Amino acid sequence: MGYAGPEYFCNREKEVENLTEAYRNNRNVTLYSPRRLGKTGLIQHFFSETQKTDSKVITIYVDILDTVDLEGFINLISSAVLNATETKADGFIKRMTELFSGMKASFLLNEYTGMPEVQLGLGTTPEKEHSLAAIMNHLENSTTPVVVAIDEFQQISNYPEKNVEALLRKYIQQQQNVNYIFSGSEKHLLLPMFSDAKRPFYQSTQHIHLKKLEFDTYKSFIQKHLNEGNKNVPEIVLDYILNWTDIHTFYTQYVCNTLYALQEEEIALGRVKKLLFEILTEKEGYFHTLTKLLSKHQLQVLAAVAKENVLTEPTAQKFLRKHELSGAATVRKSLQALVSKGLVDEELSDEKPEYRVNDVFLRRWLEMR
Ligand SMILES: Nc1ncnc2c1ncn2[C@@H]1O[C@H](COP(=O)(O)OP(=O)(O)OP(=O)(O)O)[C@@H](O)[C@H]1O
Ligand SMILES: [Mg+2]
Repeated sequence: MGYAGPEYFCNREKEVENLTEAYRNNRNVTLYSPRRLGKTGLIQHFFSETQKTDSKVITIYVDILDTVDLEGFINLISSAVLNATETKADGFIKRMTELFSGMKASFLLNEYTGMPEVQLGLGTTPEKEHSLAAIMNHLENSTTPVVVAIDEFQQISNYPEKNVEALLRKYIQQQQNVNYIFSGSEKHLLLPMFSDAKRPFYQSTQHIHLKKLEFDTYKSFIQKHLNEGNKNVPEIVLDYILNWTDIHTFYTQYVCNTLYALQEEEIALGRVKKLLFEILTEKEGYFHTLTKLLSKHQLQVLAAVAKENVLTEPTAQKFLRKHELSGAATVRKSLQALVSKGLVDEELSDEKPEYRVNDVFLRRWLEMR
């Protein structure tokens, strides 16, 4: 499900305002949130709002999650840039040939999107750096403002080439007319890129930490859409859903879409509970596979975190006793393993860590067992 327009996008006014202000003042932004909370949607919403007031702005979005090295990055960013700056396929090819003259550059049409993509055959390091310079200079020469969003930006720290951050920083610093949004959900990889004094991007951006939507705002938004679809859902049922999904956007959206597709127009609490159970059952095979990859102790800790909903004191006797967990030190170790595996989120709230099983469906399934 991609961004479907402002009608289907709830609030985020403050965040759009912050992004707009950063853009107007030529500041780059780091956008962070836990998984599936709405980063990509927000970027697309911001782009669409900005285009309304600034018809000349060029907006570029790349998701680099699937790239494994600098070459993959260059191919992806070049394709996105050329698709944004050249409106016709001939223009794309002509510009590509011009930019990468002397290099093995070809293009292909993406089977799914039908859009042209650059395929550079880059052998040596100087060739890679040369092509990156070419595409970055092309951006720098833009006479109209450009906003580039690089989603899952932490991925570049996994590339085998060690100087990618420094290289990118060098070009980005030179560009007058281009603003960047670096977003991602892997906090332990993303945030140090901007907060560690030894890293090239140190303190070069404004940070935006995306949080959950506000309960009542989200509730009214859902109510309105369900009413438009002739569904009568009592307020207590909506409260139940939002508590069950922990107001997490992806899961709320999923549940509401499933509910929307039901035949019935009157939706009582019992019907929703049945629906939620069906969703969990549908995903059970996947949860079994996932939990089999954990040690017995890790699974025990995961289930305990799930049952707590939000865990604040992982080593407190009360928590250990309630879930029959032995030894604060081993619990801490398993919890850290679950955090690095990306199954548990560790967020700071008033300087204190809070732990949650981030996949809300998995959380409810573990809770139910
Ligand atoms: N403000 C919003 N109003 C309504 N739906 C939203 C909103 N933000 C996000 N969503 C929905 O929530 C789901 C997840 O959003 P999105 O893909 O933007 O999250 P993400 O943080 O980029 O996720 P990931 O970590 O997987 O990249 C999508 O289905 C999207 O349509
Ligand atoms: Mg995303």
